[in-house]
Amino acid sequence: MQEKKEKGFPQKGLGFEKTLEEVKELSHQGPDYKKGKTWGLVYYASKEHNQFLQKVYSQFSSQNALNPMAFKSLKTMEKEVIEMTTSLFHGGSEAVGVMTSGGTESILMAILAYRQRARKLKPWVRRPEIIAPESVHVAFNKACKYYDIKLVLAPLNKDYTVDVNWVKKKINRNTIAIVGSAPQYPHGVIDDIEALGKLAQKKKLPLHVDACLGGFLLPFLEKIGEPIRAWDFRVPGVTSISADLHKYGFAAKGASTLTFRSMDYMKHQFFVYTDWPGGVYASPAMLGTRSGGPIAAAWAAFKSLGEEGYLENAKKIIETTKELKEKINQLPELEIIGSPVASIIAYCSKDSAVNIYTVGDYLMQKGWHVDKNQMPESLHAIVGLNNAGFVDEFITDLKEAVIYARENPEKAQEGGAAMYGMISKMPIRGVIKVSVQKMMEQMYGPEGAMPDEVDENSLQAKAQKVGLQVLEVKDKIKDSIKGRLPF
Ligand SMILES: Cc1ncc(COP(=O)(O)O)c(C=O)c1O
Repeated sequence: MQEKKEKGFPQKGLGFEKTLEEVKELSHQGPDYKKGKTWGLVYYASKEHNQFLQKVYSQFSSQNALNPMAFKSLKTMEKEVIEMTTSLFHGGSEAVGVMTSGGTESILMAILAYRQRARKLKPWVRRPEIIAPESVHVAFNKACKYYDIKLVLAPLNKDYTVDVNWVKKKINRNTIAIVGSAPQYPHGVIDDIEALGKLAQKKKLPLHVDACLGGFLLPFLEKIGEPIRAWDFRVPGVTSISADLHKYGFAAKGASTLTFRSMDYMKHQFFVYTDWPGGVYASPAMLGTRSGGPIAAAWAAFKSLGEEGYLENAKKIIETTKELKEKINQLPELEIIGSPVASIIAYCSKDSAVNIYTVGDYLMQKGWHVDKNQMPESLHAIVGLNNAGFVDEFITDLKEAVIYARENPEKAQEGGAAMYGMISKMPIRGVIKVSVQKMMEQMYGPEGAMPDEVDENSLQAKAQKVGLQVLEVKDKIKDSIKGRLPF
């Protein structure tokens, strides 16, 4: 746990040297991603690549892409990043796009563009609706919450792709767009974008493909012969794609792309205001000031690696993923969920005596960072270059973790396992929401609690108590109704 520092603005500066010492201390907190300990969050290519990105980033970090007239080199680099991206996604000569700060901003802007477009073209729509798979990234829920759009979540087929027939049935006069993922985060599968594309064309609706994770990996996996189904602008109905440079684009953090089939769609996201005393203001996406760092670093990543470099990376990533999948599947207690084709997997326990969240907690104690999924309860892995060469070490710890979970069933009622177990089983989702809201208030309140200081147990107990009370009341109501019914 971090030592509590005195609050408030420092009166006397520490100077560069002392501050750097503190920076060094802080930089040691967190999982050792350079040694493959993270399964997601970090997309670290190599020490050399990182140093190269830092060098480019620092040259442009003070420059501001807010005003393309002032820093023309940033405009040039952004334009070239978008051109390289649209060519990779087979966008054709009309394709356009912008760079954003990350996947969430790309998604927020795509949804905004479609809402603004609908306001022009479908004036009868009072509350717009967007249909997306249940597995779609939560940034779509966020976007719809921010813009007061109804998000209609479509169920998944047995293979975890979206049920396109269900989507078809739910399209109505308020629908303004449909969404698919390539691949989706929870299980790593690619939705049937061709079927969604046909539907979108038939119903004259835009189709957004969220390729934040896969955008800069799938094209190269396809080129090395992996069975990747069509997902990009080659599918006629696809009108926009979000793809993150700071994931498999191996750029510095703070960089994503949002590309459109043509300006007909993208123009709706621009903000232009002409009556501000500060001058005429126009911006292409959410941010005002935009550091040149992420733009320049993304441009430099593309230029320095080229197709050859990305192909080589894709090969290493898919080989590491296959090795990981094979070795997890060899463990009799565990199995990979569905049939993920790229580098994202989820694995669950098929042995009721092995709690998968206890397995996760054990791995965390061993220094691995693994994310926990719900519905079904599972652990998650996004395989990166930094994981290459560390699969055996991980599997050794995973085997130990499985034994530990079996021998210590009570651990399922403690710590993260208990918390996630409760979250995943609780039928009354509002209770979870209130608890998490309270955790956020503790973390961002005046106390500024660190995540491990948040009083998880009392929140969990409270949530459990409320949840159980509600369940009891529900059961009582059911019983009393039953008593009065003639059967
Ligand atoms: C499929 C998908 N879409 C969108 C996002 C959001 O990206 P970001 O965290 O950069 O905002 C993610 C992040 O993991 C993702 O996996």
